[in-house]
Amino acid sequence: MNILLNNRIISRESFTVDLEDRGFQFGDGIYEVIRIYDGFFFEWEAHLERLVRSAKELMLPLPTAIHTLYQNLQLLMKDSKITNGTVYIQVTRGAAPRFHAFPKETEPTLVAYVREMQRPLEQMRNGIKTITTEDIRWLRVDIKSLNLLGNVLAKQKAVEQGGAEAILIRDGIVTEGSSSNLFAIKGKQCFTHPANHLILNGITRQVVLRLLNNSELTLHETSFTLDELLEMDEVFITNTGQEVCPVIQIDDSVIGKGTPGVYTRQLQSAFEALLGAVIPS
Ligand SMILES: Cc1ncc(COP(=O)(O)O)c(C=O)c1O
Repeated sequence: MNILLNNRIISRESFTVDLEDRGFQFGDGIYEVIRIYDGFFFEWEAHLERLVRSAKELMLPLPTAIHTLYQNLQLLMKDSKITNGTVYIQVTRGAAPRFHAFPKETEPTLVAYVREMQRPLEQMRNGIKTITTEDIRWLRVDIKSLNLLGNVLAKQKAVEQGGAEAILIRDGIVTEGSSSNLFAIKGKQCFTHPANHLILNGITRQVVLRLLNNSELTLHETSFTLDELLEMDEVFITNTGQEVCPVIQIDDSVIGKGTPGVYTRQLQSAFEALLGAVIPS
């Protein structure tokens, strides 16, 4: 595998992490994951815009201009010969003697690499079981930072209990999944947590919001409780890897009839149609 290091493509074997890289020591950095469908970076403008926003929020200078980064990602994808997968991009504040405050003259480190990935069709067709857990993350999870321990512990708990995702609850309110946004439908009303500092404003979430504009559902970007969630007819999660994925169970509660709901299916179809539309043949 080859990787992008700042402006150069090098082999993975020749890449080393500096002992005092601030990403390694403090988690002082940001990342993005962009989906590649048939050799096309899906929603890349939105992902790169979010990268710029995350960088700005952390006062982290990006080592390359965004259009240069996009061109480099194209080269990296071609070099990888992978046409269906993801590209992971990470930027850290760079290496400096360990001291919490920002170092004065440190160059940021950008790395990116491509991995093959197939669509998780089984989960998308049949839905997933989930668990709930307390949202113990910091209060700026709108920034896509490398600090993912709260997410890691939540997902681990889900896996240990045979679930595919952990739904996070803060002060009784449903925020999002450990690596996804969450939507819930009751009748023709669709609910999702507002995009504030308590959730990551997912790119897939934003695509689904656009799709909802053309559906018979009425969207409410408003908070709701776990008790309310368990009474919903349909629940689904969204993220770059799982697209629109139905949730059929939360802890011991079955959602709806225990199978993916009709509106969730409609949104999945609309999402697929969009893929057909955005992928140049
Ligand atoms: C905590 C969290 N929320 C939401 C998302 C969904 O974001 P996106 O749709 O941009 O992949 C992710 C993606 O990994 C995430 O980690």
